Amino acid sequence: MSRSILVTGGAGYVGSHTVVQLLLGRFKVVVIDIPNSPLEIVLKRVAKLAGEFGKNLAFYQMDLRDKPALEKLFACTSFDAVIHTAGLKAVRESVKNPLLYYNNNVIGTINLLEVMVSHGCKKLVFSSSATVYGWPKEVPCTEDFPLCAANPYARTKLFMEEVCRDIYSSDSEWKIIILRYFNPVGAHPSGSIGENPSGTPNNLVPFIQQVALGRRPELTVFGSDYSTKDRTGVRDYIHVVDLANGHLAALRKLFDSNIGCEVYNLGSGKGTSVLELVSAFEKACGKKIPLLMAGRRPGDAEIVYASTDKAERELNWKAEYGIEEMCRDQWNWASKNPFGYGSPDHSTSQKTSSS
Ligand code: UFG
Repeated sequence: MSRSILVTGGAGYVGSHTVVQLLLGRFKVVVIDIPNSPLEIVLKRVAKLAGEFGKNLAFYQMDLRDKPALEKLFACTSFDAVIHTAGLKAVRESVKNPLLYYNNNVIGTINLLEVMVSHGCKKLVFSSSATVYGWPKEVPCTEDFPLCAANPYARTKLFMEEVCRDIYSSDSEWKIIILRYFNPVGAHPSGSIGENPSGTPNNLVPFIQQVALGRRPELTVFGSDYSTKDRTGVRDYIHVVDLANGHLAALRKLFDSNIGCEVYNLGSGKGTSVLELVSAFEKACGKKIPLLMAGRRPGDAEIVYASTDKAERELNWKAEYGIEEMCRDQWNWASKNPFGYGSPDHSTSQKTSSS
């Protein structure tokens, strides 16, 4: 019988791609996402991508802070595991409104964990972020590096990682995998699901995309005096479909081993500079991206990329796509859906799910 998985934030960027792969992997999936997310439209597309397995998808609009609603859901469905991707994720917004982040990301997660305990569901995949490495002293980042949170968003991820470790220490029946995402980009190769644009994107690739679409005049490059290959910041970009597959690898590990509580990096293991990414995107879209060279963005690390050895060894997972495919699929999605899932007036979802 197929296993039943709850995906919180399943209409979000990472969540929706993960749900497609889960359905294709023959899991039954229940998605919850916040009431103002474009849940229905996203999940209709997700179900279509899953073909005959689309029938194994159910979804509900629900805020994790609404504990009675969560209780009700767990009372009617028995879940074999939970993939928790829901959460706010904009660093700048978290600095301006930390309580919003603590309320949403921390209280929401605690509610979820409490309801899981009361219904005996003790298998969890938790979406964390490379943000917990802060400004790494060296690269590649391995999972045992010291952790450091530079802003309220990062602190919510770090707190929740610690909560996961504590609940496992208190009850060894738990099986928890914490996934530290590096920089997810790209979209499903079909171009029917991708990252939903919001006002002004915070992240590099959604910003380049809007320049390519003619919605913004130029890309501001934050910092050209780093000690990197071309003096611009270096990050580890990972195709969102590879990331989605990382969740399936994590689930398999949860079901097939006595994992305890473990952390894995999900990245490509390669460092790419801002200028390298711009050049790959220009190739993909056939347009020139005008650049404005500017000072460093406060709080930015110089160079961050993952060691993927642990995930390769223990999860048997490795990223397959390179920067070219990430840019190709991002542009395919963007040109088919220049305003994401909605009209310009309805493109709100800065605040949906993690990702
Ligand atoms: N950058 C620009 N111009 C822009 C946007 C970004 O030059 O308009 C540069 C940044 O300075 C950085 C690189 O592009 O060098 C990547 O920046 P992103 O904002 O896309 O990604 P970050 O690595 O800074 O942050 C991301 C997520 C965070 C998460 C972090 C974890 O946005 O939520 O990765 O590593 F915490």
